[in-house]
Amino acid sequence: MFNAEVYAERRNRLRAKMSSGLILLPGNREASMNYPANTYHFRQDSNFLYYFGLDHPDLAAIIDVDEGKDILFGNDLTMDDIIWMGPQALIKDRALSVGVNHTQPFNDIKDYLSAAIAKGRKIHLLPQYRAMTILQLESLLAVRHDEFNRFVSEELIMAVVDMRSVKDHHEIEEIEKAVDIAYDMHTTAMKMAMPGLIEREIAGTVEGISLSRGGPVSFPVILSVDGQTLHNHYHGNVLETGRMMVTDAGAETTMHYASDITRTVPVGGKFNQRQRDIYEIVLGTIVNSTRAIKPGTYYKEVHLLAAKTIASGLIDLGLMKGDVDEIVSQGAHALFFPHGLGHMLGLDVHDMEGLGENFVGYDKTVQRSDQFGLAFLRLARELQSGFVLTNEPGLYFIPALIDQWRSEGKFMDFINYDKVEGFKDFGGIRIEDDILVTTDGCRVLGKPIPKSIDDIEAIMGG
Ligand code: GLY
Ligand code: MN
Repeated sequence: MFNAEVYAERRNRLRAKMSSGLILLPGNREASMNYPANTYHFRQDSNFLYYFGLDHPDLAAIIDVDEGKDILFGNDLTMDDIIWMGPQALIKDRALSVGVNHTQPFNDIKDYLSAAIAKGRKIHLLPQYRAMTILQLESLLAVRHDEFNRFVSEELIMAVVDMRSVKDHHEIEEIEKAVDIAYDMHTTAMKMAMPGLIEREIAGTVEGISLSRGGPVSFPVILSVDGQTLHNHYHGNVLETGRMMVTDAGAETTMHYASDITRTVPVGGKFNQRQRDIYEIVLGTIVNSTRAIKPGTYYKEVHLLAAKTIASGLIDLGLMKGDVDEIVSQGAHALFFPHGLGHMLGLDVHDMEGLGENFVGYDKTVQRSDQFGLAFLRLARELQSGFVLTNEPGLYFIPALIDQWRSEGKFMDFINYDKVEGFKDFGGIRIEDDILVTTDGCRVLGKPIPKSIDDIEAIMGG
Protein backbone atom coordinates (compact mmCIF):
# COMPACT_ATOMS: atom_id res chain seq x y z
CA MET A 1 0.00 0.00 0.00
CA PHE A 2 1.12 3.56 -0.63
CA ASN A 3 0.99 6.17 2.18
CA ALA A 4 -2.42 7.29 3.37
CA GLU A 5 -1.79 10.74 1.84
CA VAL A 6 -1.55 9.27 -1.67
CA TYR A 7 -5.07 7.85 -1.45
CA ALA A 8 -6.52 10.91 0.31
CA GLU A 9 -5.05 13.18 -2.36
CA ARG A 10 -6.45 11.00 -5.15
CA ARG A 11 -9.93 11.05 -3.61
CA ASN A 12 -9.80 14.82 -3.11
CA ARG A 13 -8.68 15.32 -6.69
CA LEU A 14 -11.49 13.09 -7.94
CA ARG A 15 -14.01 14.97 -5.80
CA ALA A 16 -12.80 18.26 -7.26
CA LYS A 17 -13.38 16.99 -10.79
CA MET A 18 -17.02 16.06 -10.09
CA SER A 19 -19.95 18.46 -10.16
CA SER A 20 -22.09 17.00 -7.34
CA GLY A 21 -23.55 13.87 -5.76
CA LEU A 22 -21.72 10.87 -4.42
CA ILE A 23 -19.47 8.21 -5.88
CA LEU A 24 -20.12 4.58 -5.00
CA LEU A 25 -17.11 2.27 -5.39
CA PRO A 26 -17.85 -1.39 -4.66
CA GLY A 27 -14.85 -3.56 -3.86
CA ASN A 28 -14.64 -7.14 -5.08
CA ARG A 29 -15.81 -10.20 -3.18
CA GLU A 30 -14.39 -13.69 -3.22
CA ALA A 31 -15.51 -15.61 -6.32
CA SER A 32 -16.12 -19.36 -6.16
CA MET A 33 -14.34 -21.66 -8.56
CA ASN A 34 -15.82 -25.17 -8.39
CA TYR A 35 -17.72 -25.15 -5.12
CA PRO A 36 -18.62 -22.26 -2.84
CA ALA A 37 -15.69 -22.42 -0.42
CA ASN A 38 -13.03 -23.07 -3.07
CA THR A 39 -12.37 -19.63 -4.45
CA TYR A 40 -10.25 -18.13 -7.22
CA HIS A 41 -7.25 -16.14 -6.14
CA PHE A 42 -8.74 -12.89 -4.73
CA ARG A 43 -8.21 -9.82 -6.91
CA GLN A 44 -9.44 -6.46 -5.70
CA ASP A 45 -11.13 -4.13 -8.15
CA SER A 46 -8.54 -1.78 -9.66
CA ASN A 47 -10.56 1.41 -9.18
CA PHE A 48 -11.13 0.50 -5.54
CA LEU A 49 -7.39 -0.13 -5.19
CA TYR A 50 -6.55 3.18 -6.85
CA TYR A 51 -8.70 5.28 -4.51
CA PHE A 52 -8.79 3.15 -1.34
CA GLY A 53 -5.76 0.82 -1.58
CA LEU A 54 -7.33 -1.91 0.56
CA ASP A 55 -6.72 -5.38 -0.77
CA HIS A 56 -9.50 -7.25 1.07
CA PRO A 57 -12.88 -8.63 0.02
CA ASP A 58 -16.31 -7.42 1.15
CA LEU A 59 -15.65 -3.69 1.28
CA ALA A 60 -17.41 -0.79 -0.43
CA ALA A 61 -16.77 2.92 -0.25
CA ILE A 62 -18.49 6.21 -0.87
CA ILE A 63 -16.71 9.38 -1.89
CA ASP A 64 -19.28 11.99 -1.00
CA VAL A 65 -18.73 14.93 -3.31
CA ASP A 66 -21.35 17.20 -1.71
CA GLU A 67 -20.32 16.58 1.88
CA GLY A 68 -16.57 16.33 1.27
CA LYS A 69 -16.07 13.06 3.10
CA ASP A 70 -15.15 9.45 2.40
CA ILE A 71 -16.76 6.47 4.11
CA LEU A 72 -15.56 2.88 4.15
CA PHE A 73 -18.25 0.22 4.62
CA GLY A 74 -17.24 -3.21 5.91
CA ASN A 75 -17.65 -5.61 8.83
CA ASP A 76 -15.10 -6.61 11.42
CA LEU A 77 -14.45 -10.33 11.41
CA THR A 78 -16.00 -12.72 13.91
CA MET A 79 -14.03 -15.20 16.06
CA ASP A 80 -15.06 -17.95 13.61
CA ASP A 81 -13.38 -16.01 10.78
CA ILE A 82 -10.29 -15.38 12.87
CA ILE A 83 -9.93 -19.11 13.65
CA TRP A 84 -9.64 -19.82 9.92
CA MET A 85 -8.00 -16.66 8.67
CA GLY A 86 -5.90 -15.44 11.59
CA PRO A 87 -6.16 -12.05 13.30
CA GLN A 88 -7.32 -9.27 11.01
CA ALA A 89 -7.10 -5.49 11.35
CA LEU A 90 -10.28 -3.70 12.37
CA ILE A 91 -12.15 -1.88 9.63
CA LYS A 92 -11.54 1.47 11.33
CA ASP A 93 -7.77 0.82 11.38
CA ARG A 94 -7.80 -0.33 7.78
CA ALA A 95 -9.65 2.86 6.91
CA LEU A 96 -7.15 5.05 8.78
CA SER A 97 -4.27 3.39 6.93
CA VAL A 98 -5.63 4.89 3.70
CA GLY A 99 -6.65 8.24 5.22
CA VAL A 100 -10.37 7.48 5.73
CA ASN A 101 -11.88 8.64 9.02
CA HIS A 102 -15.43 7.39 8.64
CA THR A 103 -16.43 3.73 8.72
CA GLN A 104 -19.78 1.97 8.99
CA PRO A 105 -20.97 -1.64 8.94
CA PHE A 106 -21.42 -2.94 5.41
CA ASN A 107 -25.22 -3.04 5.47
CA ASP A 108 -25.46 0.66 6.40
CA ILE A 109 -24.53 1.50 2.84
CA LYS A 110 -28.07 0.68 1.76
CA ASP A 111 -29.54 3.34 4.08
CA TYR A 112 -26.91 5.86 3.01
CA LEU A 113 -27.81 5.31 -0.64
CA SER A 114 -31.59 5.30 -0.03
CA ALA A 115 -31.35 8.59 1.85
CA ALA A 116 -29.32 10.09 -1.01
CA ILE A 117 -31.81 8.84 -3.61
CA ALA A 118 -34.74 10.18 -1.55
CA LYS A 119 -33.10 13.62 -1.54
CA GLY A 120 -32.64 13.45 -5.31
CA ARG A 121 -28.83 13.38 -5.01
CA LYS A 122 -26.90 11.95 -7.94
CA ILE A 123 -25.17 8.61 -7.44
CA HIS A 124 -22.20 8.00 -9.73
CA LEU A 125 -21.16 4.46 -10.52
CA LEU A 126 -18.50 3.00 -12.81
CA PRO A 127 -19.36 0.20 -15.27
CA GLN A 128 -19.29 -3.19 -13.52
CA TYR A 129 -17.92 -6.49 -14.81
CA ARG A 130 -18.73 -9.08 -12.13
CA ALA A 131 -22.20 -10.62 -11.89
CA MET A 132 -21.89 -10.84 -8.12
CA THR A 133 -21.26 -7.10 -7.79
CA ILE A 134 -24.13 -6.36 -10.15
CA LEU A 135 -26.48 -8.49 -8.04
CA GLN A 136 -25.27 -6.74 -4.91
CA LEU A 137 -25.88 -3.33 -6.48
CA GLU A 138 -29.36 -4.46 -7.44
CA SER A 139 -30.12 -4.81 -3.77
CA LEU A 140 -28.18 -1.74 -2.57
CA LEU A 141 -29.74 0.59 -5.11
CA ALA A 142 -33.15 -1.12 -5.15
CA VAL A 143 -33.19 -1.45 -8.92
CA ARG A 144 -33.19 -4.43 -11.26
CA HIS A 145 -29.77 -5.38 -12.60
CA ASP A 146 -30.78 -4.33 -16.11
CA GLU A 147 -31.66 -0.87 -14.78
CA PHE A 148 -28.60 -0.03 -12.71
CA ASN A 149 -26.86 1.30 -15.82
CA ARG A 150 -28.68 4.55 -15.26
CA PHE A 151 -26.31 5.10 -12.34
CA VAL A 152 -23.26 4.53 -14.55
CA SER A 153 -21.79 7.99 -14.89
CA GLU A 154 -19.85 9.22 -17.90
CA GLU A 155 -18.73 12.19 -15.80
CA LEU A 156 -17.14 9.76 -13.30
CA ILE A 157 -15.65 7.53 -16.03
CA MET A 158 -13.97 10.53 -17.65
CA ALA A 159 -12.63 11.81 -14.32
CA VAL A 160 -11.19 8.41 -13.39
CA VAL A 161 -9.66 7.86 -16.84
CA ASP A 162 -8.13 11.31 -16.65
CA MET A 163 -6.46 10.52 -13.34
CA ARG A 164 -5.43 6.90 -13.88
CA SER A 165 -3.98 7.59 -17.36
CA VAL A 166 -1.16 9.72 -15.98
CA LYS A 167 1.03 7.64 -13.69
CA ASP A 168 2.81 9.23 -10.74
CA HIS A 169 6.31 8.22 -9.68
CA HIS A 170 5.02 5.64 -7.15
CA GLU A 171 3.11 3.91 -9.91
CA ILE A 172 5.97 4.04 -12.40
CA GLU A 173 8.27 2.43 -9.83
CA GLU A 174 5.74 -0.36 -9.34
CA ILE A 175 5.31 -0.98 -13.06
CA GLU A 176 9.06 -1.02 -13.44
CA LYS A 177 9.26 -3.66 -10.68
CA ALA A 178 6.70 -5.70 -12.59
CA VAL A 179 8.84 -5.43 -15.74
CA ASP A 180 11.90 -6.56 -13.80
CA ILE A 181 9.99 -9.66 -12.68
CA ALA A 182 9.06 -10.17 -16.33
CA TYR A 183 12.79 -10.01 -17.16
CA ASP A 184 13.30 -13.15 -15.08
CA MET A 185 10.19 -14.78 -16.53
CA HIS A 186 11.24 -14.16 -20.12
CA THR A 187 14.94 -14.91 -19.84
CA THR A 188 14.04 -18.17 -18.09
CA ALA A 189 11.59 -19.04 -20.87
CA MET A 190 14.26 -18.31 -23.47
CA LYS A 191 16.78 -20.61 -21.80
CA MET A 192 14.18 -23.37 -21.52
CA ALA A 193 13.00 -23.20 -25.14
CA MET A 194 14.79 -26.35 -26.28
CA PRO A 195 13.50 -29.17 -28.47
CA GLY A 196 11.58 -31.88 -26.62
CA LEU A 197 10.10 -29.72 -23.87
CA ILE A 198 6.35 -29.34 -23.62
CA GLU A 199 5.09 -25.75 -23.62
CA ARG A 200 3.42 -26.21 -20.23
CA GLU A 201 6.75 -26.97 -18.57
CA ILE A 202 7.91 -23.50 -19.53
CA ALA A 203 4.56 -21.78 -19.00
CA GLY A 204 4.30 -23.21 -15.48
CA THR A 205 7.83 -22.12 -14.61
CA VAL A 206 7.17 -18.62 -15.90
CA GLU A 207 3.98 -18.35 -13.86
CA GLY A 208 5.79 -19.61 -10.75
CA ILE A 209 8.44 -16.90 -11.08
CA SER A 210 5.74 -14.25 -11.00
CA LEU A 211 4.09 -15.81 -7.95
CA SER A 212 7.39 -16.16 -6.14
CA ARG A 213 8.29 -12.52 -6.73
CA GLY A 214 5.09 -10.75 -5.78
CA GLY A 215 1.75 -11.56 -7.26
CA PRO A 216 0.24 -13.82 -9.85
CA VAL A 217 0.70 -13.25 -13.56
CA SER A 218 -1.08 -10.13 -14.80
CA PHE A 219 -3.08 -12.19 -17.35
CA PRO A 220 -3.08 -15.87 -18.34
CA VAL A 221 0.30 -16.74 -19.86
CA ILE A 222 0.36 -16.89 -23.65
CA LEU A 223 3.15 -19.27 -24.62
CA SER A 224 3.09 -21.21 -27.83
CA VAL A 225 4.91 -22.42 -30.87
CA ASP A 226 1.63 -21.60 -32.62
CA GLY A 227 2.15 -17.90 -32.12
CA GLN A 228 -0.04 -17.12 -35.12
CA THR A 229 -2.95 -17.56 -32.69
CA LEU A 230 -2.72 -14.23 -30.92
CA HIS A 231 -3.94 -15.27 -27.48
CA ASN A 232 -2.92 -18.92 -27.45
CA HIS A 233 -3.45 -20.45 -24.01
CA TYR A 234 -2.95 -24.05 -25.12
CA HIS A 235 0.34 -25.29 -23.68
CA GLY A 236 0.40 -28.88 -24.85
CA ASN A 237 2.73 -28.73 -27.89
CA VAL A 238 6.16 -30.30 -27.87
CA LEU A 239 8.89 -27.84 -28.93
CA GLU A 240 10.61 -28.71 -32.19
CA THR A 241 13.55 -27.11 -33.98
CA GLY A 242 12.31 -24.88 -36.78
CA ARG A 243 9.45 -23.39 -34.73
CA MET A 244 9.40 -20.00 -33.03
CA MET A 245 8.08 -19.79 -29.47
CA VAL A 246 6.03 -16.72 -28.59
CA THR A 247 5.87 -15.88 -24.87
CA ASP A 248 3.51 -13.07 -23.91
CA ALA A 249 3.51 -12.86 -20.14
CA GLY A 250 3.64 -10.30 -17.36
CA ALA A 251 3.64 -10.12 -13.60
CA GLU A 252 1.65 -8.27 -10.99
CA THR A 253 3.56 -6.73 -8.11
CA THR A 254 2.31 -7.05 -4.53
CA MET A 255 0.67 -3.64 -5.19
CA HIS A 256 -1.09 -5.08 -8.27
CA TYR A 257 0.70 -3.07 -10.94
CA ALA A 258 1.23 -5.03 -14.13
CA SER A 259 3.83 -5.68 -16.75
CA ASP A 260 3.06 -7.08 -20.19
CA ILE A 261 6.05 -8.29 -22.22
CA THR A 262 6.35 -10.44 -25.32
CA ARG A 263 9.42 -12.11 -26.73
CA THR A 264 9.73 -14.62 -29.54
CA VAL A 265 12.64 -17.03 -29.84
CA PRO A 266 13.65 -19.88 -32.13
CA VAL A 267 13.31 -23.28 -30.48
CA GLY A 268 16.86 -24.51 -29.86
CA GLY A 269 18.37 -21.04 -29.74
CA LYS A 270 19.54 -20.47 -33.32
CA PHE A 271 17.56 -18.44 -35.89
CA ASN A 272 17.37 -20.01 -39.35
CA GLN A 273 17.38 -17.67 -42.34
CA ARG A 274 13.59 -17.54 -42.73
CA GLN A 275 13.13 -16.82 -39.02
CA ARG A 276 15.82 -14.17 -39.18
CA ASP A 277 14.14 -12.45 -42.15
CA ILE A 278 10.75 -12.20 -40.47
CA TYR A 279 12.19 -11.43 -37.03
CA GLU A 280 14.23 -8.51 -38.35
CA ILE A 281 11.06 -6.90 -39.69
CA VAL A 282 9.32 -7.03 -36.30
CA LEU A 283 12.46 -5.91 -34.48
CA GLY A 284 12.87 -2.98 -36.88
CA THR A 285 9.23 -2.12 -36.28
CA ILE A 286 9.47 -1.97 -32.49
CA VAL A 287 12.65 0.10 -32.70
CA ASN A 288 11.07 2.49 -35.22
CA SER A 289 7.81 2.88 -33.38
CA THR A 290 9.47 3.35 -29.98
CA ARG A 291 11.43 6.26 -31.44
CA ALA A 292 8.17 7.88 -32.49
CA ILE A 293 6.60 7.81 -29.01
CA LYS A 294 6.51 11.24 -27.40
CA PRO A 295 3.98 13.65 -25.92
CA GLY A 296 1.79 15.28 -28.55
CA THR A 297 1.95 12.35 -30.96
CA TYR A 298 -1.21 10.33 -31.57
CA TYR A 299 -0.69 6.64 -30.86
CA LYS A 300 -2.73 5.93 -33.99
CA GLU A 301 0.09 7.56 -35.97
CA VAL A 302 2.64 5.32 -34.23
CA HIS A 303 0.46 2.29 -35.07
CA LEU A 304 0.34 3.35 -38.73
CA LEU A 305 4.11 3.85 -38.77
CA ALA A 306 4.48 0.29 -37.43
CA ALA A 307 2.10 -1.00 -40.10
CA LYS A 308 4.16 0.74 -42.80
CA THR A 309 7.42 -0.68 -41.44
CA ILE A 310 5.94 -4.18 -41.52
CA ALA A 311 4.52 -3.71 -45.04
CA SER A 312 7.80 -2.35 -46.31
CA GLY A 313 9.72 -5.32 -44.85
CA LEU A 314 7.27 -7.72 -46.46
CA ILE A 315 7.71 -5.98 -49.83
CA ASP A 316 11.47 -6.45 -49.51
CA LEU A 317 10.89 -10.18 -48.91
CA GLY A 318 8.51 -10.40 -51.89
CA LEU A 319 5.48 -11.29 -49.76
CA MET A 320 3.75 -7.96 -50.50
CA LYS A 321 3.96 -5.61 -53.44
CA GLY A 322 2.86 -2.09 -54.39
CA ASP A 323 2.89 1.23 -52.60
CA VAL A 324 3.39 1.10 -48.81
CA ASP A 325 1.08 4.06 -48.10
CA GLU A 326 -1.68 2.51 -50.23
CA ILE A 327 -1.22 -0.88 -48.56
CA VAL A 328 -1.63 0.63 -45.12
CA SER A 329 -4.43 3.04 -45.98
CA GLN A 330 -6.43 0.17 -47.50
CA GLY A 331 -5.54 -2.21 -44.65
CA ALA A 332 -3.86 -4.98 -46.69
CA HIS A 333 -1.02 -5.30 -44.15
CA ALA A 334 -3.57 -6.49 -41.57
CA LEU A 335 -3.36 -9.99 -43.07
CA PHE A 336 -0.02 -10.14 -41.28
CA PHE A 337 -0.55 -7.59 -38.47
CA PRO A 338 -4.20 -7.89 -37.49
CA HIS A 339 -4.08 -6.22 -34.06
CA GLY A 340 -3.41 -2.83 -32.52
CA LEU A 341 0.08 -1.66 -31.60
CA GLY A 342 -0.61 -1.32 -27.89
CA HIS A 343 -2.68 -0.30 -24.93
CA MET A 344 -2.43 1.52 -21.61
CA LEU A 345 -0.80 -0.39 -18.75
CA GLY A 346 -1.16 0.10 -15.01
CA LEU A 347 -3.25 -1.60 -12.35
CA ASP A 348 -4.90 -3.51 -15.20
CA VAL A 349 -2.85 -5.08 -17.93
CA HIS A 350 -5.23 -3.42 -20.40
CA ASP A 351 -5.49 -0.44 -18.11
CA MET A 352 -9.03 0.75 -17.35
CA GLU A 353 -10.49 -1.35 -20.16
CA GLY A 354 -13.48 -2.13 -17.90
CA LEU A 355 -14.43 1.55 -18.07
CA GLY A 356 -14.85 1.33 -21.85
CA GLU A 357 -12.05 1.07 -24.41
CA ASN A 358 -13.17 4.15 -26.27
CA PHE A 359 -13.14 6.32 -23.13
CA VAL A 360 -9.55 5.23 -22.47
CA GLY A 361 -8.01 5.16 -25.93
CA TYR A 362 -10.08 7.58 -27.99
CA ASP A 363 -11.55 11.06 -27.62
CA LYS A 364 -13.26 13.77 -29.66
CA THR A 365 -10.16 14.23 -31.80
CA VAL A 366 -9.77 10.60 -32.86
CA GLN A 367 -12.53 8.13 -33.61
CA ARG A 368 -12.19 4.35 -33.81
CA SER A 369 -11.81 3.02 -37.35
CA ASP A 370 -13.94 0.11 -38.54
CA GLN A 371 -11.20 -1.19 -40.86
CA PHE A 372 -10.07 -4.78 -40.11
CA GLY A 373 -6.89 -4.56 -38.02
CA LEU A 374 -7.02 -0.85 -37.19
CA ALA A 375 -10.40 -1.44 -35.52
CA PHE A 376 -8.58 -3.46 -32.83
CA LEU A 377 -6.33 -0.56 -31.86
CA ARG A 378 -7.15 0.07 -28.19
CA LEU A 379 -5.14 3.26 -27.81
CA ALA A 380 -5.23 5.90 -30.54
CA ARG A 381 -5.30 9.25 -28.77
CA GLU A 382 -2.67 11.90 -28.27
CA LEU A 383 0.06 10.78 -25.88
CA GLN A 384 0.83 12.71 -22.71
CA SER A 385 3.82 12.63 -20.44
CA GLY A 386 3.11 10.06 -17.68
CA PHE A 387 1.20 7.60 -19.86
CA VAL A 388 2.47 4.02 -19.64
CA LEU A 389 1.66 1.89 -22.62
CA THR A 390 2.70 -1.23 -24.48
CA ASN A 391 4.37 -1.25 -27.88
CA GLU A 392 3.76 -4.69 -29.38
CA PRO A 393 4.08 -5.09 -33.12
CA GLY A 394 3.68 -8.58 -34.52
CA LEU A 395 3.81 -10.45 -37.79
CA TYR A 396 1.74 -13.61 -38.20
CA PHE A 397 0.92 -16.19 -40.84
CA ILE A 398 -2.62 -17.28 -40.01
CA PRO A 399 -3.49 -20.09 -42.45
CA ALA A 400 -7.29 -19.73 -42.14
CA LEU A 401 -7.13 -15.96 -42.75
CA ILE A 402 -4.72 -16.34 -45.68
CA ASP A 403 -7.04 -18.95 -47.26
CA GLN A 404 -10.11 -16.79 -46.73
CA TRP A 405 -8.58 -13.62 -48.19
CA ARG A 406 -7.12 -15.53 -51.12
CA SER A 407 -10.42 -17.26 -51.91
CA GLU A 408 -12.14 -13.85 -51.80
CA GLY A 409 -9.49 -12.40 -54.11
CA LYS A 410 -8.74 -9.74 -51.47
CA PHE A 411 -5.91 -7.27 -52.12
CA MET A 412 -4.51 -9.28 -55.04
CA ASP A 413 -2.55 -6.15 -56.05
CA PHE A 414 -0.75 -6.01 -52.70
CA ILE A 415 -0.31 -9.60 -51.52
CA ASN A 416 1.86 -12.15 -53.25
CA TYR A 417 -0.26 -15.13 -52.22
CA ASP A 418 1.89 -17.73 -54.04
CA LYS A 419 4.86 -16.75 -51.92
CA VAL A 420 2.78 -16.42 -48.73
CA GLU A 421 1.65 -20.06 -49.15
CA GLY A 422 5.21 -21.11 -48.31
CA PHE A 423 4.97 -19.38 -44.90
CA LYS A 424 1.73 -21.01 -43.69
CA ASP A 425 3.78 -23.29 -41.41
CA PHE A 426 5.75 -20.39 -39.92
CA GLY A 427 3.66 -19.35 -36.92
CA GLY A 428 4.05 -15.79 -35.65
CA ILE A 429 6.36 -13.29 -34.03
CA ARG A 430 5.49 -10.57 -31.54
CA ILE A 431 7.83 -8.34 -29.56
CA GLU A 432 6.42 -6.18 -26.78
CA ASP A 433 7.91 -3.61 -24.43
CA ASP A 434 6.37 -1.44 -21.73
CA ILE A 435 6.97 2.25 -22.28
CA LEU A 436 6.69 5.42 -20.24
CA VAL A 437 5.95 8.61 -22.14
CA THR A 438 8.34 11.23 -20.73
CA THR A 439 8.32 15.01 -21.14
CA ASP A 440 10.36 14.86 -24.33
CA GLY A 441 10.12 11.30 -25.61
CA CYS A 442 9.81 7.94 -23.96
CA ARG A 443 11.65 5.39 -21.87
CA VAL A 444 11.44 1.62 -22.15
CA LEU A 445 10.74 0.47 -18.60
CA GLY A 446 12.73 -2.08 -16.66
CA LYS A 447 15.95 -3.94 -17.16
CA PRO A 448 16.35 -4.48 -20.94
CA ILE A 449 15.06 -7.92 -21.88
CA PRO A 450 17.05 -9.41 -24.78
CA LYS A 451 15.44 -8.82 -28.13
CA SER A 452 18.16 -8.48 -30.77
CA ILE A 453 19.00 -11.70 -32.62
CA ASP A 454 22.53 -11.69 -31.18
CA ASP A 455 21.33 -11.15 -27.61
CA ILE A 456 18.69 -13.88 -27.87
CA GLU A 457 21.12 -16.36 -29.38
CA ALA A 458 23.66 -15.49 -26.67
CA ILE A 459 21.27 -15.99 -23.77
CA MET A 460 19.97 -19.21 -25.29
CA GLY A 461 23.55 -20.44 -25.61
CA GLY A 462 23.25 -20.85 -29.38
N1 GLY B 1 -0.67 -9.33 -23.42
C1 GLY B 1 -1.90 -9.62 -24.00
C2 GLY B 1 -2.52 -8.45 -24.65
O1 GLY B 1 -2.01 -7.38 -24.62
O2 GLY B 1 -3.61 -8.58 -25.18
MN1 MN C 1 -0.13 -6.30 -24.46
